Amino acid sequence: MALAGCGSGGGGSAGSSSAAGRPDLTVTGAYMPAPTMGTMAAGFFTVTNSGGADELTSVTSDLTDDVTLHSTKNGAMEEETSFPVPAHGTLTLATGGNHLMFAKLTHKPRQGEKVAVELHFAKSGTVRVSMPVKSATYTPGSGH
Ligand code: CU
Repeated sequence: MALAGCGSGGGGSAGSSSAAGRPDLTVTGAYMPAPTMGTMAAGFFTVTNSGGADELTSVTSDLTDDVTLHSTKNGAMEEETSFPVPAHGTLTLATGGNHLMFAKLTHKPRQGEKVAVELHFAKSGTVRVSMPVKSATYTPGSGH
C-alpha cells in the first residue's frame, strides 16, 4: 500500500530555480502616516515576491534626498544598508518593525497627499510607488 516512499532519489535539479530565478516583485499597501512634525516621516509597504531572491538596497523620493532603511530592535531604530526580499516570500515594512525613514523633509506632507517614492532593488531595478499620506494614527487593517 505505502508505495509513496521517498521518491526516486537522485533529486534531479533541472527545474529547481526557486532561489536563483528572476525576482517578480509586487509592492502593495504603501502609506506614510502624516508626520506630526515637519522634519521626519516614516513609510511602510509590503513587497511580495513570486520569483527568486532580491534585495531592497536604497530608496529615493521627491520629498527629500535623505531616505534611509530602518529596522526596530528592542524598541530602538537601527539603520540598515539593505532589506532582503526572500525568494517566493515577502518583505514587510510595518509600524514597530522595518520602515523607511524620511528626514530633512522639503515640506511637511499632509493627509491626502501622495509622495513619489522610488524603491531600488539589486536585481529588479527601480520600482516607483505613489505613497499616500494617511492620518498620523493610521494603521492598516484596523478600519479608520
Ligand atoms: Cu526610523
